[in-house]
Amino acid sequence: MRGLKWVLGFLTFSFFLWGGSLWANEKGDPDLIRRGLEVFEEKCMGCHHPQYEAFGPPFSEIARKRTIQEVMAYIQDPVGSAASLGYKSSMTRIGLSPEDLRAVASFVLSFREK
Ligand code: HEC
Repeated sequence: MRGLKWVLGFLTFSFFLWGGSLWANEKGDPDLIRRGLEVFEEKCMGCHHPQYEAFGPPFSEIARKRTIQEVMAYIQDPVGSAASLGYKSSMTRIGLSPEDLRAVASFVLSFREK
């Protein structure tokens, strides 16, 4: 009996971890998003606000319309991918390390509303 309890406990715990990681995937990696906030403050804040229309569109709107791949492609090459997102103009190209690019894209996507 004690063995069975242990097994059940273990299974419950595994499901808990599994559920937690699903949640984390959907919301994005918290550490990466935190790094993304720093990149945002350094390089994007002059033109974008997470929730409100600024010079550029709000991240909440971008997150609603785009995948993380589209967001990363646009930041990396705004001129090249502007047309595919329906823009005639584009923002300036911002040089970012691959890590910072991923981080700031996760940050943008973290404003997706449920
Ligand atoms: C100089 C101002 C400026 C800066 C700095 C800037 N943006 Fe933009 N961004 C814009 C504008 C303006 C647009 C809308 C495109 C247009 O009107 O040509 C845009 C569009 C975007 C889009 C695409 C919007 C869509 O419809 O999907 C993303 C994603 C984006 N910006 C992310 C960022 C991130 C992340 C940073 C910081 C690393 C950043 N931007 C920095 C001005 C800026």
